[in-house]
Order: sequence, then structure tokens, then C-alpha cells
Amino acid sequence: MRINKITFIIAMEAEAKPIIKKFSLLEDKTFCPGLPMRSWVGEFEGTNVSIVINGKDSGNGLDFIGTEAATLATHLAIEKFQPQIIINAGTAGAFASKGAHVGEIYLSYPKVVFHDHRVDIPGWRPHGEGHFKVWDTEQLKTLGFKYGIVTTGSSLDMLPEDEKQINRLGGKLKDMEAAAVIWVASLHNIPAFCVKAVTDLVDSGKPTHEEFLENLKFATTNLAEGCFKIVRFLAYNPNIRL
Ligand code: ADE
Repeated sequence: MRINKITFIIAMEAEAKPIIKKFSLLEDKTFCPGLPMRSWVGEFEGTNVSIVINGKDSGNGLDFIGTEAATLATHLAIEKFQPQIIINAGTAGAFASKGAHVGEIYLSYPKVVFHDHRVDIPGWRPHGEGHFKVWDTEQLKTLGFKYGIVTTGSSLDMLPEDEKQINRLGGKLKDMEAAAVIWVASLHNIPAFCVKAVTDLVDSGKPTHEEFLENLKFATTNLAEGCFKIVRFLAYNPNIRL
């Protein structure tokens, strides 16, 4: 089927801006009055494209990042746009030891998990981690992106216990929203997946926050290019299975 209603969930304005520009989207000022989340909408070759971002703290001007804001943003986006598919686009950390490079684009496959939801009660561990299956991104194979499990946690840094859990879970990408977005989409039975641009290599020995800021522009430019290729593929390909 041809996809004609796509919603992107993106945490930070800096991650969304190049995508908004690429699709010439316009802000929908009627989106969730009184809440910080913001939305931009438009059309690409007959396909409705919308973006919802978490918005900023009115006190300190910083983006709301993380799972709490992502959960609310995803729910609001679904209520407003009823998309056929949700794409969580953003940046992520990755591992040089697993072959990653800064600026590369990854698609989530076959699932996303929480790496810092540790509940050591019999039977509860996998429940806490989530293990949310994503939409079958193998259908986008010809676009040439890399693939991997995205693991989500609430911190930018990586403590030794986080690293241990990420490795046990087979994680290739480390972010702060993916599992929350995919969880909410699954509650609504909407197919969803992630596209992530690598800003930092968490095993490089360099401070992650420095690498993140240094590479943000490069990574988000690549991210916008990647999102464009994905939308074009989904919009034109009549054989996509949701
Ligand atoms: N987003 C970008 N880099 C990240 C990292 N290293 N950890 C979590 N989220 C990120």
C-alpha cells in the first residue's frame, strides 16, 4: 500500500529543524494549546507529513528530552494526526567497537528496549525492558542504512551497569526516547520505527556531551537527508506492508 499519513516524533528542535526545512513544513499553531509540544505539517507528493517535537522549558529555554516528554508528545501526535506510521527520528550514541561512525544513519530493527529499567523480580525483567517490536524496516533495505537494536535510557552518559545491560540486550544505538515512542504507538496499534543519526561514539573515551555538541549539525543534516529518502520511499512504493 502507498503510505499517505506519516508523523515524525522528534525530541529536540535542533534535530527537527533540518527536516522541517527539507519538507518546507509550516507550524500548526493550534497543536496542543497550553502544552510545550509543537508541530509542523505539510505535504510531500500527496503524502501528509507532520512533525511533533517535545518543546522547551519556558524557564530555562532547554528542550524537554527523555521518555516522559516523548510519551506525551507521541500520544498527542496520534490523537491529532491519526498517522498510518510513526517515525521516531533523532540522534543517538553508538559504539566504535560495533563498527559505527559519527554521522551514520541507523534504522531500528527488530526491536527497541529500555536498558535502565532494571526490575529483578522473577518474570518482571523483560516486562521492565519492554522489548517493543518495531515496524519491519527491512522493507527499506535498498536505502542502504545500517540496522540495529536501539536501547533507551534516561541519561546521556553511560555508567558501567548501563553498558553491561546494553551489551546483554544486543544494543547498537543508545538514545533517550525510542522505547517510549514505540511503546505509545504500540498501545494505539500504529506501526512505528526509529531513524537515528550517530552524534557520538560512547566507547571513544571522549566526553559524550562534547562529542554530541560537536557533531550535532553534521548528524542532523544527514538525518534530514535520511528522512527525506524514507518518506519518498514510503510515499511512492505501492508494495509497502504496514
Ligand atoms: N543522543 C545522542 N547521543 C546519545 C547518547 N550517547 N546517549 C543517549 N542519547 C543520546
